[in-house]
Amino acid sequence: MSKFRIGLLTGGGDCPGLNSVIRAVVKTAINNYGYEVIGFKDGYLGLVYNRFMKLGLSDVSGLLDRGGTILGTTNNFDPFRVLVDHDGEKQYRDLSDRVADTLRMHDIQCLIVIGGTNTINIAHRLIKEKGIRIVAIPKTIDNDVPETDVTIGFMTSVNTATQALDKLHSTAESHHRVMILEVMGAASGWVSLEAGIAGGADIILIPEIPYDTRKVARRILERKNQGKGFSIIVVSEGSRPLGDNLSQDPLADDDVQPFNGSGSRLAAELEKLTRLEVKVTVLGYLQRGGEPSPYDRILSTRLGVSAVNLIAEGQYNMMAAIRNDQHCPVQIADVAGKVKTVPLDGELVKIARSIGVSFGD
Ligand code: F6P
Repeated sequence: MSKFRIGLLTGGGDCPGLNSVIRAVVKTAINNYGYEVIGFKDGYLGLVYNRFMKLGLSDVSGLLDRGGTILGTTNNFDPFRVLVDHDGEKQYRDLSDRVADTLRMHDIQCLIVIGGTNTINIAHRLIKEKGIRIVAIPKTIDNDVPETDVTIGFMTSVNTATQALDKLHSTAESHHRVMILEVMGAASGWVSLEAGIAGGADIILIPEIPYDTRKVARRILERKNQGKGFSIIVVSEGSRPLGDNLSQDPLADDDVQPFNGSGSRLAAELEKLTRLEVKVTVLGYLQRGGEPSPYDRILSTRLGVSAVNLIAEGQYNMMAAIRNDQHCPVQIADVAGKVKTVPLDGELVKIARSIGVSFGD
């Protein structure tokens, strides 16, 4: 009798912890259940074009602390809308049937997708429209996947951003400068908020709270008058000033997300208003690269093991999730189409305000 086979892919932007979750899935599947694991390369693209690698125990040895993903990944590849060249003309085509064909060809019983909101939304459509059995594992430095407390990669990116803030503090103080750190996070402010608290930022700007540039300037000048010649600002890439017309629809197509330049734009305005020197550091992809923190290694191992256990229990179309530090799997249908943003009345915003952090509102 042929062995039970599962498929595995990593989709969307990479993050620290992907390799550790691949390792946990493969070890659990093979050691505990005797399954075979087929990894598809570059996210859903590998399923559409049948690019794969068999994953055995030796393939995942030494992966725990390695950044990136051995499977590769792609941002914005959607099997329901693939840009193809047809007689020299670029056209979008629905190639989602090929996903089902590839899985059938490999005799795969269930697919594990490790991804963020886009990857999970596509998984939901594949379940509904193609009848594919899927288990999802939430990852993204943005921490914006609903129904789980934390996503793989988030804590490592908070560590990276916090270290950057610590370094900026010392040079800001020496030069009496205003320092802006622009961090990623798409339309949610989790990285900015948590790194801002951990790194002692004076001002934290997040997409969920449009800011008033004059209030930000006023806080900087107040600090100067109190003898603090420097200020530290952490700004999410998706933050916007009040009245800004750019769409901040968290569900908007990634192709058109205007996530860049929030730091330099703010710096130009603040220099005019404060007449102080304002410097910008864009942390960018440093937040996504490198080794996962111990927290993320543990989280990815927990979620990887949990995903395979869900398959073994026949609990398909679920997302492995953690709530209040407990495994708490949820239906993919309850996650799809949603984005977890920072609650304005949540504890973190409140404690930041209590210790005098300004959100520019
Ligand atoms: O979703 C993760 C993320 O890093 C966002 O924070 C950021 O806006 C986006 O991906 C950048 O993606 P890309 O790799 O396409 O530049």
